[in-house]
Amino acid sequence: MNLDAVRQQFEQIAFDYDGLIPRLIPYYREQHDLILQLIPFETNASIKVLDLGAGTGILSALILQAFPQANVAAFDMAENMLKICQTNLSAFQERLTLQQGNFAEDDFGSGYDLVVSGLAIHHLDGAEKQTLFKKLFQSMNSGGILLIRDIVTGATPRLTEQYEQLWRQYIKANGEDDAACFKSYLEEDIPSSVEEQTNWLAEAGFADAGCHWRYLNFAIFGGVKS
Ligand SMILES: C[S@@+](CC[C@H](N)C(=O)[O-])C[C@H]1O[C@@H](n2cnc3c(N)ncnc32)[C@H](O)[C@@H]1O
Repeated sequence: MNLDAVRQQFEQIAFDYDGLIPRLIPYYREQHDLILQLIPFETNASIKVLDLGAGTGILSALILQAFPQANVAAFDMAENMLKICQTNLSAFQERLTLQQGNFAEDDFGSGYDLVVSGLAIHHLDGAEKQTLFKKLFQSMNSGGILLIRDIVTGATPRLTEQYEQLWRQYIKANGEDDAACFKSYLEEDIPSSVEEQTNWLAEAGFADAGCHWRYLNFAIFGGVKS
């Protein structure tokens, strides 16, 4: 994995990210409605939240708005993404902490009731994902929930290829350069299947490890720490 190349890419696209990402990811905004519905806490709960690979803070903003007592740690390795996050979420600055680091290696804190991660963990290979899931389990409180939305492979190579081709059509139909996107996907992304990842979550100790939503090579999945 060339994590430095991934970081450089996000440093460069940070200022365009919020406008670009819904044109690259099918049902991007609709996924947010489901993520909020899957969070089991009362809206006035004082929850401690980690947004892993927070980027410009899209998921952090969602949670800070819906849970007025929540405190969110937005963790990301790209400085420019965090700069945009700070600007976008300035209204929430008292409940937001920005942390720069690599979640595969660095400490991201503990005591979390909710961990969300969007489109970030697929930059790790299978072994690194398994290590991260164990580290996430340790970082969470009992009763805590983990929700991951990410790019995934199909259950077979043929299905993966079919989903990837349909994904390219989506990108192209939105006027974006599907060939360039697909090239950087092949060079930098290491998606795993939902089935593998929910098994790894269960092995890490999570209960109710499962998939909540899926469309082609995108999924929302996770587990709870009982
Ligand atoms: C595609 S953006 C996702 C932003 C947002 N979470 C969303 O759902 O739209 C992926 C972000 O993950 C960050 N990222 C990827 N791998 C990381 C790692 N190992 N440690 C910290 N941040 C990472 C990148 O810097 C980037 O900002």
